[in-house]
Amino acid sequence: MRIRLAHAHDATGIACLHVRSWRAAYRGMLSDAYLDGPVEAERTRLWHTRFAQPAPNQYVVVAEVAKQIVGFACAYGAEDPTWGTLLENLHVAQEHKRRGIGKRLMAHVAHWSAQTHPHACLHLWVLKPNLPAQNFYQVLGAEHIESAVWHPPEGGPVPQIRLAWRQPQSLLSKLGQSAP
Ligand SMILES: CC(C)(COP(=O)(O)OP(=O)(O)OC[C@H]1O[C@@H](n2cnc3c(N)ncnc32)[C@H](O)[C@@H]1OP(=O)(O)O)[C@@H](O)C(=O)NCCC(=O)NCCS
Repeated sequence: MRIRLAHAHDATGIACLHVRSWRAAYRGMLSDAYLDGPVEAERTRLWHTRFAQPAPNQYVVVAEVAKQIVGFACAYGAEDPTWGTLLENLHVAQEHKRRGIGKRLMAHVAHWSAQTHPHACLHLWVLKPNLPAQNFYQVLGAEHIESAVWHPPEGGPVPQIRLAWRQPQSLLSKLGQSAP
């Protein structure tokens, strides 16, 4: 398994994994009508736009096994004035979970953020019913900051929570990394 920076030619592969992951992980949280239908076109459009017009603070890495994308992370450096770098997406293919790929993707994001935005905290939003992901982040020392409501593209509102690391060094040390 190797982790590398993502490029425009990865847009379709990342979008496919994103769709599969949402369909599996968010079933029962987002509507079936959305997950079984428009999510595919919507995620594909999103990824092609992200690579065609990348925000200046965008960082995308993929995990590859035998040239297949099996995981990815997307972050926006120092996106929030208080909570710093935003981990926007983190997904690992079902058949590759619990092999440390999520942690390695997090390590790349945390290292990049500490290098490019040394004073920024790191944060993310996770759906409240998504307990496996919350567990993953809490094992890494994330702190529950606040609750809010997300209005997905289709279907009813879903509760979500903001998790953050006030001291990015604490995340790096949980990941066995030293500060850059
Ligand atoms: C969350 C996610 C990225 C974790 O990726 P992963 O590669 O499976 O995670 P790792 O193997 O690096 O796990 C590291 C540790 O996190 C914890 N952890 C990970 N998945 C867990 C789960 N399903 N339940 C409980 N703890 C979990 C464990 O402590 C694990 O260590 P262990 O396997 O030695 O016990 C992955 O489960 C995923 O893609 N989920 C679906 C998409 C999603 O919800 N993304 C987050 C959106 S905010």
